[in-house]
Amino acid sequence: MKLEKKAKESFVTSAEMVLPNDTNPLNNLMGGRLLHLMDVVAAISAQKHSNRIVVTASVDNVSFKHSPALGDTVTLEAHVTRAFNSSMEVFIRVWSENIPNGTKVETNNAFFTFVAVDQSGRPITVPKLIPETKEEKRLYEGALQRREVRLMMAGRIKAKDATSLHSIFEDYKNGAE
Ligand SMILES: CC(C)(COP(=O)(O)OP(=O)(O)OC[C@H]1O[C@@H](n2cnc3c(N)ncnc32)[C@H](O)[C@@H]1OP(=O)(O)O)[C@@H](O)C(=O)NCCC(=O)NCCS
Repeated sequence: MKLEKKAKESFVTSAEMVLPNDTNPLNNLMGGRLLHLMDVVAAISAQKHSNRIVVTASVDNVSFKHSPALGDTVTLEAHVTRAFNSSMEVFIRVWSENIPNGTKVETNNAFFTFVAVDQSGRPITVPKLIPETKEEKRLYEGALQRREVRLMMAGRIKAKDATSLHSIFEDYKNGAE
């Protein structure tokens, strides 16, 4: 197994057309169906980084800004932003496109966390991630704080142990905007 892998090695893109069975009574894509598509593309990305079986450990806040309509093309793009011990944060962006009309909008984005596991489902170490572009570095830097927020929300760590968040609150105490 490689000890380090570049972020770009985990890039995955997928495209789907919204079909009648995927829609609500307004003929727009059901949110749960979109979450399924996001889970699949993100899992493939985490597998590409780890070369392991992966399981979804958590899904961060997902806000739907626009609803893809029947017949639209939904494009999903995912890559790993940072790898920890056995877990990986994956960033997913989703666009909805009406190809005949020539319109394309970003419908939503989200962070999912996957854990690489062995054949018995036990967590297993993954390669470190190397960010290269400015955007990859920005996402990498924020990943530690996002990890601590989600582990606190899941009741897995206490606020006192979320050390990367302490500096933010110190800055606020010192008058930062
Ligand atoms: C995710 C899972 C493998 C964690 O197993 P565990 O025995 O609790 O293992 P650990 O406490 O050692 O945690 C392993 C990693 O998971 C991460 N993790 C656990 N719960 C998490 C959560 N809610 N959010 C984000 N990361 C989480 C830990 O931070 C740790 O990461 P690290 O190794 O990079 O530090 C286990 O809870 C599991 O299998 N859950 C079910 C997953 C699943 O079936 N998903 C699909 C649901 S339909």
